[in-house]
Amino acid sequence: MPREIINVQAGQAGNQVGESFWKMLLAEHGLDEGGFYKGTDPQQLARVGVYFTEVELAGEPTKYVPRSVQVDLESGVCNHIRSGTIGSLFRPDTFLTGETGAGNNWAKGFYTEGAELIESILEVVRKQTEACDALQGFQLLHSLGGGTGAGLGSLILSKFREEFPDRMLATFSVLPSPKVSETVVEPYNALLSVHQLVENSDLTILIDNEALYNVCTSTLKIKAPSFEDLNILVSQVMTGVSTSLRFPGQLNGDLRKLGLNLVPFPRLHFLMPSYAPFYNPADKAFIRMSVADLTKAMFDRKNLLVACDPRFGRYLTAATIFRGPISSREAEHTVAELQRKDSAHFVEWIPDNVSVTLCTVPPVGQVQAATCLANSTSVQELFKRTLSQFALMYKRSAFLHWYTGEGMDTMEFSEAESNAHDLISEYQQYQEATVEEDLGAYEEDIVEETEEVAYEEEEQ
Ligand code: GTP
Ligand code: MG
Repeated sequence: MPREIINVQAGQAGNQVGESFWKMLLAEHGLDEGGFYKGTDPQQLARVGVYFTEVELAGEPTKYVPRSVQVDLESGVCNHIRSGTIGSLFRPDTFLTGETGAGNNWAKGFYTEGAELIESILEVVRKQTEACDALQGFQLLHSLGGGTGAGLGSLILSKFREEFPDRMLATFSVLPSPKVSETVVEPYNALLSVHQLVENSDLTILIDNEALYNVCTSTLKIKAPSFEDLNILVSQVMTGVSTSLRFPGQLNGDLRKLGLNLVPFPRLHFLMPSYAPFYNPADKAFIRMSVADLTKAMFDRKNLLVACDPRFGRYLTAATIFRGPISSREAEHTVAELQRKDSAHFVEWIPDNVSVTLCTVPPVGQVQAATCLANSTSVQELFKRTLSQFALMYKRSAFLHWYTGEGMDTMEFSEAESNAHDLISEYQQYQEATVEEDLGAYEEDIVEETEEVAYEEEEQ
């Protein structure tokens, strides 16, 4: 049984990232742009059903159709996909668009324009779930800075939570950066979305446009990166992250297992992805790296897709995925060695907190590669950055009338703000927690108990 995932992509970033992701998935599974198998490696088809539905029409070869729903409150981006090279790949009735867009207004996505589209989205999604044998969950692709992906994306998540409470909800969430876009209200939209993600997502993989921009300009030497350049990086990471879900193997084979290994506390499910080696497909230069270098790179700030520095935090957990002809013993040894040498940056109260997965199929165009998903307390930097930008404007009630005009209560802004504060302090608390502290408390308990006994004895 394939254990299906349903992909939902919302808004401009969601759909553009999605297009790039599906193109890369096609290549990895040996499918052409129409969804027909042209590959030679049986591993490509073994679990293709996780993301694709097999459609058999009499007298025709099997067509592999993305199990995906494309949503936007304006039609431009979806029309572009439909008329592009993979336009015929998707089921035509899985495109759901509005006319006006949400104009960077989270409230329009969540309360007004988005609320008008939500029932038809749920209709299509229900149909997709009914066609599944054993649905493992959903993945949402969206940005947090605009109105549709952020606002309607949040509404979609909360409706899924209500209707499919026992299915996993994962998101790939693109965070705004002033280096890439100049819309002033993005911190508002982002923080309102984080508030929802804390409650309604099981696994959120953070993609920070600030980091994507830096990798493009510094590592790949692209002078003025386009969204297409950024999205190639995103889809490399997404295929890396989903490797263990799509190819045969044991470890972290589905979203629930991935969550189980990576999320020690339900609210702290914000993961930082890293990738190595980054490469520009235009260069066609295959970069070879030793297992030791791949491992080092995965834990290096320069390879992270989130502009945070893990050296200022501690890893609660991490999952590494190596791809290509790599020996599992060598990979496990190298990761264990890195963890031993750098033990100060891994919490000692979760033993064996870094998992190692191997997949012999390398990414298309690469000899070998590695991806890491880390649950590091340093992610609080990202929330601090967004919160401080949010607070500057919120203190003066700047731009709030756009939101209240859609019927939104400013209470929700205050709640989002205090939820972000709480989240940051939870990360800080676990960053500082040590085993000695636990032992200290344990000893205190023992002392107290002995004292109680002595007291009782005295009384007698
Ligand atoms: P509205 O247009 O407001 O209805 O919502 P939307 O969800 O369509 O907005 P959009 O996705 O354009 O959100 C804006 C944020 O997404 C900004 O931070 C942009 O920098 C970022 N963004 C937009 N398109 C892309 C993309 O293709 N890739 C990446 N990485 N970021 C994008
Ligand atoms: Mg848009």
